[in-house]
Amino acid sequence: MQRPQELAVGRRLLGHIDGRTTDLAADMFRNRVEAYSCRERARLERDKLFRERPIFMGLGTRLARPGDYLAEEVAGMPVLMARGPDGEMRAFANICRHRAAPVAEGCGNARAFVCPYHGWTYDLDGKLLGTTDRVGFAGLDLAGHGLARLPAAEKHGMMYVRPRPLAPGESAEIDIDRELGGFAADLAALRLDTYPIYSVDRIAPRINWKFAIDTFLEGYHIPHLHRKTIAPYFIGNCGTFDGAGLHGRMCVARTSIDKVRALPEDERDYRPHVISVYQLFPNTILIWQVDHIEIWRAFPGRDDAGRCDVEMTIYKPADSTRPDAYWEKNRDIAIRTVMEEDFPLGERMQIGFESGATEEVVYGRNEPCLVHFHSSIRNALGVAA
Ligand code: FES
Ligand SMILES: [Fe+2]
Repeated sequence: MQRPQELAVGRRLLGHIDGRTTDLAADMFRNRVEAYSCRERARLERDKLFRERPIFMGLGTRLARPGDYLAEEVAGMPVLMARGPDGEMRAFANICRHRAAPVAEGCGNARAFVCPYHGWTYDLDGKLLGTTDRVGFAGLDLAGHGLARLPAAEKHGMMYVRPRPLAPGESAEIDIDRELGGFAADLAALRLDTYPIYSVDRIAPRINWKFAIDTFLEGYHIPHLHRKTIAPYFIGNCGTFDGAGLHGRMCVARTSIDKVRALPEDERDYRPHVISVYQLFPNTILIWQVDHIEIWRAFPGRDDAGRCDVEMTIYKPADSTRPDAYWEKNRDIAIRTVMEEDFPLGERMQIGFESGATEEVVYGRNEPCLVHFHSSIRNALGVAA
């Protein structure tokens, strides 16, 4: 966050703590439970939110060296990202042009991708270098059988891909500053390119992908659900909210924030005491933690509104001298609170959504980030409910 914003957020938080208040949405917001359970709605979200828009794919440090690659499925589109010898990150449909097998799995470093099925080979630019049976494929135009290119871009240490192949004549450009809108300068100030990856964890909870995002968007539940884990360190039901287009940012205070009061305002460092949660539309939560970056991404399950794939990554500062045990502890806390407290309860809520017993859920005025997230989804989908 930029320094003036950091000071302003700190001031607002201290004011809320003193007044026992929190930032409020204009109104309560009612959402139909079908938003979490209906198959048609899930299909619409996949097409409009996950295929038409650039999707955040992690920090650029995930592909630190030329030849580094990462294969992922984004809402039904197999995506392969690779850093070329020229240092540029490119993205492709991870679909072999022979018979559609994925040419790469997981992550690693490679000079070329060899399809596991019949051995066709592609370079880091996606170009088909050769087939394995020259006679069987004599006359095949290699240049016309490269991996399908996906629009991709990298800026402020962030990687974006639009998981739909280019239509003829369509621009491959993604304007990341435009995508981030009012948060571009704020995120640039985080210097995300100075955080190498520390860990990657994945889970496939039986919840709608939006619930996996919801769980980060209010501090109202912290004193209750997280009573035994993180609640002692946070001031519950107290936070700031700022929206920037479809994105949102919620800041919550740790109980240690009182320490800053001893200092004149322009000398205050809020970072050890304030957690900033960026909700990057549609499916990313980027958390600016005390001394590291934690990122959660949720992807809808294929043909099932009640399942999703969630990835948590921790990035630590490049200049950190802390031992691995310290980062392991941070990772463990994140896993214990989210994967062992939020998501298991979420799975039972999903059963409630699907039961048909109630029609709506309601987000309170004290949950402005949730209200903004779901209003943004409606706006992006062009639906009224
Ligand atoms: S499917 Fe890739 S070589 Fe056959
Ligand atoms: Fe939680």
